[in-house]
Amino acid sequence: MCGIIGRIGDGDAIDALITGLENLEYRGYDSAGVAVQNGAGIKVQKRSGKVDALKESIERGRLRGELGIGHTRWSTHGPPTDENAHPHTDSTTDVAVVHNGIIENYAALRERLSEAGHEFTSDTDTEVVPHLIQHYLDEGVESEMAFRRAIEQLEGSYAIAAICHGEPVIYAARQGSPLVVGLDGDGYYLASDVPAFLEYTDTVVYLQDGDVAILRSNGLRITDLEGTAVSRDRKTVDWDSEETGKGEFDHYMLKEITEQPTSLAQAIEGRFDAEEGRVHFEEFDRGSFADVDQVLLVACGTSYHAAMYGSVALRRAGVNASAMLANEYSLSAPPVDERTLVVAVTQSGETADTLGALRRANEQGAPTLAVTNVVGSTAAREADERLFIRAGPEIGVAATKTFSSQAVVLTLLAHRIARDATGFSTLGIEEISAELERLPSRVDEVLADSGAEAIARRYPDERSYFFIGRGLGYPVALEGALKFKEITYEHAEGFASGELKHGPLALVTPETPVFAIFTGREDEKTLKNAEEAATRGAPIVAICPDGHQAADVADAQLRIPETHPTLAGLLATVQLQLVSYHAADLLNRAIDKPRNLAKSVTVE
Ligand code: G6P
Repeated sequence: MCGIIGRIGDGDAIDALITGLENLEYRGYDSAGVAVQNGAGIKVQKRSGKVDALKESIERGRLRGELGIGHTRWSTHGPPTDENAHPHTDSTTDVAVVHNGIIENYAALRERLSEAGHEFTSDTDTEVVPHLIQHYLDEGVESEMAFRRAIEQLEGSYAIAAICHGEPVIYAARQGSPLVVGLDGDGYYLASDVPAFLEYTDTVVYLQDGDVAILRSNGLRITDLEGTAVSRDRKTVDWDSEETGKGEFDHYMLKEITEQPTSLAQAIEGRFDAEEGRVHFEEFDRGSFADVDQVLLVACGTSYHAAMYGSVALRRAGVNASAMLANEYSLSAPPVDERTLVVAVTQSGETADTLGALRRANEQGAPTLAVTNVVGSTAAREADERLFIRAGPEIGVAATKTFSSQAVVLTLLAHRIARDATGFSTLGIEEISAELERLPSRVDEVLADSGAEAIARRYPDERSYFFIGRGLGYPVALEGALKFKEITYEHAEGFASGELKHGPLALVTPETPVFAIFTGREDEKTLKNAEEAATRGAPIVAICPDGHQAADVADAQLRIPETHPTLAGLLATVQLQLVSYHAADLLNRAIDKPRNLAKSVTVE
């Protein structure tokens, strides 16, 4: 995580830097800073806290610059103080650097540089980089070579941008953390992610690991570390800058929850034929998955819950499948071979844990597939195949629309893999098809008359919030609890309904509301589990259609329209997202930027 921005070109760089930082704040908001170059040399302005604090201080100080770099931080080394904020400089402020990632050998580098007389003022790993560059400049090495030599010394993961006094250039390098260059008629942008500069340009060049980019106002040069030119294609991104704004909404999260009818329609568009009950992915030729014996899905956070959803759908379709936390994969990777399809599920395509698992699977010789939202992301590039969920940009740190899109795409994929691998699928896509077509309008119905705010008001400040479900309702319960704890900071847990009696029931009291998800499959068992909690005094909130027997038994209901059991969990998800949102809003939480979290976690 951490967001990097750079601008070089006509006009003052400050506006583009600040806009970029605001657009990247979802990657971290512990501190923000910029370094610009103008006639007076390099000027650095940085502050702990959010970009707004930096913005105010810049306006007061009238900072101007022809080129510059900026950073928004999610702390790894050292607390979120002014000193630890980026950009970092050498002692003379001749070099300024911003960094995303972790420099694993920084302690050794710092010791060596300290012995040579360099003085450090922060606790960060990053600060060694400007000092290293300065070290080579002091030896008389010219700046581009000094940058390369410094980069060569680094171990770990990084996206780095640097500027040097008197040089009209931004140097950048990437190894393990994302970096993309934006091109407009007047110059160049550099950023961790496209939304940073989307309002200025949609023409981009994605840098790859090992690349060094040299940005001047009149040209972009990309080389490998040794300086040999490499060619990277220009691409046009089809995201619209309007899509990345908050519009009429108070929070991105609410905007993105509300966008689900559209994002789901985009996810399924052209991918299945309702009349014939056929799934069609233009990405895969007929029989592409014929050699698949089993599927292993790896992911983190919300994407892990979508991966679980996908694994249940795969097993129902008749394919041996399981989901695994990506961060556990590298330590306990199961034996895989060329007949195990490893699917990395990742919204951003940049989560370090998920990339670690994907790389491990690639090394193990398994065929790999990335299911992601971001075209050009590292996962999309490094997997053998890629499938996009087409949800559009998601800015709120708490993932919402991308979960439902991932789940629905994985459900379609489950059918397709089963057909290719076994000749038939037991998922019942024929019955699902009609409901699948109606899914966006069903979500509209939920949004139009949710009742979630009243439920959030009814159960404020409880000891704990439990979420239960079975089958496809289980990952939905886990996701409901994750959303709730992420943005309300209240304790919340998700359980498989059947597990409640094997331990968690000991925690149930009148102060632990239980949200029970009814998908239309084995509901009587889930109801029995909910009643077991109710007997111990827990209020029950049933997420079910009108007329469902659970609605009579429960203390409260969150209504979902009748649909196919394979899709009901997605409608329940929308309700649970709304409950979390309203509960957090009542508590006045920083909904789009929950404390200690970041959207894209690019460290392991
Ligand atoms: C972070 C975010 C989560 C997200 C997870 C995986 O922890 O805060 O919301 O689910 O990363 O992200 P990915 O981009 O791989 O889906």
